[in-house]
Amino acid sequence: MSRTTLSGFSSRAIHHGYDPAENMGALTPPMHMASTFAFESAEQGGAIFAGEQPGYFYSRISNPTLDLLEQRLASLEGAEAAVATASGMGSITAVMWTLLQAGDEIITDKTLYGCTFAFFRHGLGKFGIKVTHVDLTDHDALEAAMNDRVKVVYFETPANPNMRLVDIAGVSEIAHAGGATVVVDNTYATPALTRPVELGADIVVHSATKYLGGHGDLVGGMVAGDAETMQRVRLEGLKDMTGAVMSPFTATLIMRGLKTLSLRMERHSQTALAVARWLEAQPQVSAVHYPGLESFDQHDLAKRQMALPGGMIAFDLADGYDQGIRFMNRLNMIVRAVSLGDAETLIQHPASMTHSTYTPEERAEHGIGEGLLRLSVGLEDAEDIFADLAQALAASEMSIAA
Ligand SMILES: Cc1ncc(COP(=O)(O)O)c(C=O)c1O
Repeated sequence: MSRTTLSGFSSRAIHHGYDPAENMGALTPPMHMASTFAFESAEQGGAIFAGEQPGYFYSRISNPTLDLLEQRLASLEGAEAAVATASGMGSITAVMWTLLQAGDEIITDKTLYGCTFAFFRHGLGKFGIKVTHVDLTDHDALEAAMNDRVKVVYFETPANPNMRLVDIAGVSEIAHAGGATVVVDNTYATPALTRPVELGADIVVHSATKYLGGHGDLVGGMVAGDAETMQRVRLEGLKDMTGAVMSPFTATLIMRGLKTLSLRMERHSQTALAVARWLEAQPQVSAVHYPGLESFDQHDLAKRQMALPGGMIAFDLADGYDQGIRFMNRLNMIVRAVSLGDAETLIQHPASMTHSTYTPEERAEHGIGEGLLRLSVGLEDAEDIFADLAQALAASEMSIAA
C-alpha cells in the first residue's frame, strides 16, 4: 500500500507523505536546513515565484521539511492542508491577520489561554476589530450575538485552564448560518482525540509546543484547514504579516513527536483519569474539572466529542489560593512549570502565571478561579504521581495547622 493512502491514524503519523526510496533509503526524512533554494535558470526562478511551476525558493514561504510536517498534520486533522509556524501564538496571529480587517467583529468563547486573550482583547482591538466574548456552551447566546460583521467564531476545547468544552458541531452550525469562519484551538485534545474539521469547524490551530512535540524541547505552531485558506494564511499571515516561520529542526522534532502521539495520548488519558478520580476522593480537594469524570458537567459532550479525556486536569483545593501555593511548593517529582503535554507531570497556577494577562475582574467574569491549579499529567508511573500529590497535600494541610 502506498504510504500516502494509509487509513490508520498512527500509521499516517509515522509514514504519511514520505518514501525512503526518494532519499537514498533514509528511514528518517532528511532535514533541509536551507534558507534559500537554487534555480536552474532565471526563467525557472521567475516561474516558481509566479506560482506557475512547483518548487521552493525561500524558507519563509515554504521548505521541504516543513512541507512534509504540514502534509502529515493535515492528514491527521482530516484537513486539506496545513501551515507550520514558529509558535502557537504565531499560528493564531497569522490566521487572524489573514481573515480579519478593520471593522470586522469576532466572537470568542469566554475562556481562552492567557496570551490568546491578550492578543484578541488588546492586540486586535488596536486595529479596529471588535471582540465579543460569549459563553459558547450557551447556543442561544451565540445566536443572539451573531451579526453580519462577525467574521470569525473562535474557541478552545477543552479550554485552558478550566477545561470547559465547546460543542464543535453545534457551534459550527450556528456560526456558519451567520456566515462566520470557525477556528478551533485543538492544543489540549490533539487530533488523536478530537478532529474539529471532521465535526464541522473550518480551521484548527495548535500550539505544537505541547502534545504534538510532546517532549518540552521546542516551541512551534500549526494551522490546518482548506487548501485555499491555508495558502492565504501562508502568503498573507505568515509570509508578510507575522514572519513567524518554523525552523526545519523544530519540524523534525515535531515529526518525531507525532510518531508516538496516539500512544502518548492514551497513556496521558489513562493516568489522568486515575489521578482525577483520586483527587476527587481527597477531602482537601473541593473541585476537580476533568472530562473523563462522571461528575464533570459536560461529561456527555466529552464522550461524544473526545475519543479519550486527555491529560489535562484543573482542580481547586478546599482552602483556596494559599493552600494551593503551599501544595505546589511541597511537590518533589512533579515540576512547577507552565506549558503542558510533556512527558513530565507539570503543575502551575493560572491566576499568577498563564492567565495573569487577565485582570482579577476579567478572571472572575471568564470563569478562571483565583485558586485553580492546572495539572498536565505526564508519562511517569501513576504510583509516583499519586505518592507525590499525596505527600504534598498532607504537608499543605499540616502547614495550615502550624
Ligand atoms: C491552548 C493554547 N493555545 C495556544 C498557546 C500558545 O502557544 P505557544 O506558546 O506555542 O505560542 C498555548 C500556550 O500555552 C495554549 O495553551
